[in-house]
Amino acid sequence: MEVIIRPNAAAGCILGAKIIAKLVRDKPGCVLGLATGRTPLRLYQELIRQHREEGLDFSRVTTFNLDEYVGLPADHDRSYRYFMRENFFRHINIDQSRTHVPDGTAADLHVECRRYEQLIADAGGIDLQLLGLGRNGHIGFNEPSGSLRSRTWIKILSEQTLRDNSDAFQLPTAMPRHAITMGVGTILDTRRCLLLAFGPAKTRAVERMIEGPLAAICPASALQLHPRATVIVDEASASALQYADHYRWIDANKFAWQRYD
Ligand code: F6R
Repeated sequence: MEVIIRPNAAAGCILGAKIIAKLVRDKPGCVLGLATGRTPLRLYQELIRQHREEGLDFSRVTTFNLDEYVGLPADHDRSYRYFMRENFFRHINIDQSRTHVPDGTAADLHVECRRYEQLIADAGGIDLQLLGLGRNGHIGFNEPSGSLRSRTWIKILSEQTLRDNSDAFQLPTAMPRHAITMGVGTILDTRRCLLLAFGPAKTRAVERMIEGPLAAICPASALQLHPRATVIVDEASASALQYADHYRWIDANKFAWQRYD
């Protein structure tokens, strides 16, 4: 796992955007896995800026989002499809038909999960998966204790996740308790993972993910098995890392071709 510590969330997001922009330039027909939530918003803003000011071209890019709430239609303003359209897709030149989000309103959710896996396979797999980190160590909506080999499936959201995300809903009771999410196995099959985690609320989860044991109780720890996982954290979320100096040393001694900035 490559651990990069940046002074703050803004700097971390700019670096994350650089990594994605480089992939899009090197491989214009790449397949991106995307995440919603507060964490990647600044990263999307930077990609939008690069599209507008530097001509970053998304016309041949395909995307797959990690997850979607069960029961929310695409035009619901709290659905992840809506989030992606408002915060990213409508600001860039992506072909909307190449953007994929699980359908949380599918008549048969199990069929929808299998369809989503097949779509990813048909696209040739995901080149880079962007991830955030739940306070409880979830990635996607893979909550603690779920299988580390899972494929796209239906998950019951934990109480912690309901608490963390319910402020997006006018009434906490309006928040769905279920989601479709790529499984941990789906995420591990991507060619590259890029996880962002910032702020003091993520300190403990960051520590468990990077330095804790590989354990289903912290699904993000499965990234320890990924052959190419990059984790970008800020000083606050990195503050409990025992080996922070080691990560800084590695970062400072990279070859030029290993650097992103
Ligand atoms: C979002 C997702 C979640 C979030 C995580 C962190 O698509 O899959 O795992 O990345 O809950 O959320 P924020 O960024 O809001 O702290």
